[in-house]
Amino acid sequence: MTPDCILEAKNIRKTFLFKGSLVLVLDKLQFCIQEGQFVSIVGPSGCGKSTFLELLAGITNPDNGNIYLEGNEITGKTGFLGYMPQDDLLFPWLNTMQNILLPVKVKGRNEKEAKQKIMELLPLFGLQNYTDHLPYQLSGGLKQRVALLRTYMCSAEILLLDEPLAKLDALTRSQLQIWLKDIVHLLNLTVILVTHDIDEAILLSDRIDLMSINPGTFIESIELNRNAPLSAEEQLKLKAKIRSKLVTGKESEEEENFSHGLH
Ligand SMILES: Nc1ncnc2c1ncn2[C@@H]1O[C@H](COP(=O)(O)OP(=O)(O)OP(=O)(O)O)[C@@H](O)[C@H]1O
Ligand SMILES: [Mg+2]
Repeated sequence: MTPDCILEAKNIRKTFLFKGSLVLVLDKLQFCIQEGQFVSIVGPSGCGKSTFLELLAGITNPDNGNIYLEGNEITGKTGFLGYMPQDDLLFPWLNTMQNILLPVKVKGRNEKEAKQKIMELLPLFGLQNYTDHLPYQLSGGLKQRVALLRTYMCSAEILLLDEPLAKLDALTRSQLQIWLKDIVHLLNLTVILVTHDIDEAILLSDRIDLMSINPGTFIESIELNRNAPLSAEEQLKLKAKIRSKLVTGKESEEEENFSHGLH
């Protein structure tokens, strides 16, 4: 295990069987996150970002490679990390409180204690007036906050968030980005965020890991300091660099056209 990595993925390879052929999705992938870090993963659609989070969460197994949490191997094991999938669905027949309590019930933990903790956290998530609402009675932004609080209640040290704000309108998304930044700080979370939104990655991250496609692997890490925001000019430059890198795999002075749905 590499020192300082609370979570580490080593030499990950993942193939899928599709119509009788093996498709190589991830190869030679290395990843490390330190405690308290916020790392965003940005890459073209289909490069394997969700597959990587599923591997970290233990939902699928790699063909090769290992995953370690605090030095202990967790490859293929679930329940160690808080995972919010790309299409996180709240159960439509459960209200906000019941949805948030679900991981507590599944893990057989003390519900009374958990409920008390949730009551304390609800205002932080802006949900105190929505405990009895069913999902269809909530706005998109509220639903995502319920899903985030549910993920947090997994009591995991590390949260894996797969495009949690992608489906929201631009205004709600930028409000929730600022809220997420604050809450990560307040709760001292370690977060791996998958996003297509480069501005979101720049705003929230200590590091942005760029991923290539065919096969998916990390091609560059950009170190940032989320407590020392970039100037508008620096941000534009960095954004252009990231876009260029993702399109060509190389750096370029000029921003290029690209069509991978990156904002
Ligand atoms: N169960 C599966 N069986 C076969 N192929 C799969 C399976 N799951 C994912 N894939 C393929 O693996 C590749 C990576 O998929 P993945 O969902 O990880 O991409 P992604 O980077 O998250 O894309 P997006 O940004 O669009 O969410 C895609 O080509 C996808 O079709
Ligand atoms: Mg995905």
